[in-house]
Amino acid sequence: MCGIVGYIGYRNVSNFLLEGLHRLEYRGYDSAGIAVANGADITIRKKAGRVQELSSLVDECPVEGTVGVGHTRWATHGEPSDANSHPHSGGNGEIVLVHNGVIENYSALRSQLQQLGYTFQSETDSEVVAHLLAHSLFEQVKLGCEPSETDTCLKAVEVALKKLKGAYGIAVLFRDCPGVLIAARNGSPLVLGIGDGEYFIASDASPLVGYTDEVVYLADHEIAILTETGMDLLHRDSGRQTPSIQVLDQVSTDIELGDFEHFMLKEIHEQPTTIENAMRGRLDFDAATAIFGGLNMTLQQLRTVDRIVLTACGTSWHAALVGEYLIEEFARIPVEVEYASELRYRNPPMSDRTMVFAITQSGETADTLAALRECKRKGHSTLALCNVVGSTIAREADGGVYLHAGPEIGVASTKAFTSQVTVLTLLALYFGRMRHMSYQAGSSIIRKLKEIPEKVEQTLNCDAAVKEIAQKYYGMNNFLYLGRLHNFPVALEGALKLKEISYVHAEGYPAAEMKHGPLALIDEQTPSLFVVPKCGIYPKVISNLEEVKARGGPVIAIACEGDDRVAELADDVIYVPDVDECLQPLVTSVPLQLLAYHIALLRNCNVDRPRNLAKSVTVE
Ligand code: F6R
Repeated sequence: MCGIVGYIGYRNVSNFLLEGLHRLEYRGYDSAGIAVANGADITIRKKAGRVQELSSLVDECPVEGTVGVGHTRWATHGEPSDANSHPHSGGNGEIVLVHNGVIENYSALRSQLQQLGYTFQSETDSEVVAHLLAHSLFEQVKLGCEPSETDTCLKAVEVALKKLKGAYGIAVLFRDCPGVLIAARNGSPLVLGIGDGEYFIASDASPLVGYTDEVVYLADHEIAILTETGMDLLHRDSGRQTPSIQVLDQVSTDIELGDFEHFMLKEIHEQPTTIENAMRGRLDFDAATAIFGGLNMTLQQLRTVDRIVLTACGTSWHAALVGEYLIEEFARIPVEVEYASELRYRNPPMSDRTMVFAITQSGETADTLAALRECKRKGHSTLALCNVVGSTIAREADGGVYLHAGPEIGVASTKAFTSQVTVLTLLALYFGRMRHMSYQAGSSIIRKLKEIPEKVEQTLNCDAAVKEIAQKYYGMNNFLYLGRLHNFPVALEGALKLKEISYVHAEGYPAAEMKHGPLALIDEQTPSLFVVPKCGIYPKVISNLEEVKARGGPVIAIACEGDDRVAELADDVIYVPDVDECLQPLVTSVPLQLLAYHIALLRNCNVDRPRNLAKSVTVE
């Protein structure tokens, strides 16, 4: 949600800023801007629209300098417009900043600043921060401090930040002190890159790839003071910090499209590899169980867990539902799946032996982070299942498991979902083998899991068939997605994919629920997509399918190869390889991702940048 970049060093900064914003664009794409300090002044170029439009503007009116900041916006306060786009100036241009987050007390601060004579050019909460900083700087100067000194700038930032309520990640330039760049965070992620005589700031590590592999993840209430010659890190309460430098292991091909037209398609096709990566080193064939290095709990502690709460949002929440089914089935431990946005304000009874698992691709989702913190505060063991290494949730949880899926750039989550399901399957196996599951049963699951990357590779061959089906149905405006047991969360996830990238209304339901209401929606313009691979209750799902057919609704089925019965009943069939029932979501979700992709293309939608959405939801 909003992307920030910053640079101080020896390069002409606008190239790095624009390239960084392109890489961060998945976080927000309503408007974009850069500011460059060039001696006596700070020049701003900003514009509503995509980063590409900003690049054209900068081509027409170039800016030169070696210190600068940039921003790509996902609007919270104020519509996407030139005026509301970042960077924002404070005072008479003494301060220029970019901000990610939401300032909750912005309205009161805005009134106070207006009374003090500050004039606002935008409707944003961020401009409030800019004027507040300018005012704070003015107060320091009144006390006799020099505006050209780094200490004055720092003091102004420290005083101003104390007045803010809410979340922020900011990067600030000072007109009268052009050799300093200050970044600060509370709730919105920021990572610093350390180069040779240069420093970088970004909302996530992707803009730094190819520039440096030494990074420092800023913690809440930390301020970084960057100059060409050095970096200082201060914490609000504990003062000067020794930076914990980590090595970035991303390579540039991770964030490039390669031969694919869209990141979503690339990421769908990466799934055989990403599922393999999620399992790598975690299969113990001898003991017929899974191995996890980072749970940070003893076997004894794990054995006493009597309830598991899985908390997440969106697609990750759907993966959690699959996890619930598997953990309860394999380990007989009761599992609750909680929307993080609800859990953070609910107060459900949770015993001392309840373990909480936050599931998140980005590791930065504000609601998931808040839910995790609330559970931690109450003394529960908290674990995280994250993709982004070094993300806030990964760092704050007591322990956890990484997905190792590589950067997911398409806004619609695909490979993260299957990696989450893979790891949850391994966790279910791990807890199961610690309790009731036999060696034989564990061994059988491991063997079948090992075959999954190959099965997903085969599943991807359905692309041509899916494309044809998309041609037939893309004009329709309502879809139902139906499945049962392990495939019920798959139906929910398929419907979400279609909604978010093609703006078509779609609902996911357990297939048997149709007769309790949604069946009334069925007509010849409302296709139902049945996920109906071979399983214990296959005949029941077939009956549900027949109920829809009997009412004239078109049916698209996801079925196992060679299923002639479904072929007779459904209007269209997409075949997937037959895999064990408990592993089906790993293959049945793939054609649904492809279907959403092709329908979105046919409807001329921007697949990687769907309207109103952004990746990594760091606001509440
Ligand atoms: C949907 C999607 C979102 C995310 C949700 C949680 O395709 O990507 O629903 O799953 O915003 O994000 P993470 O997993 O980063 O916490």
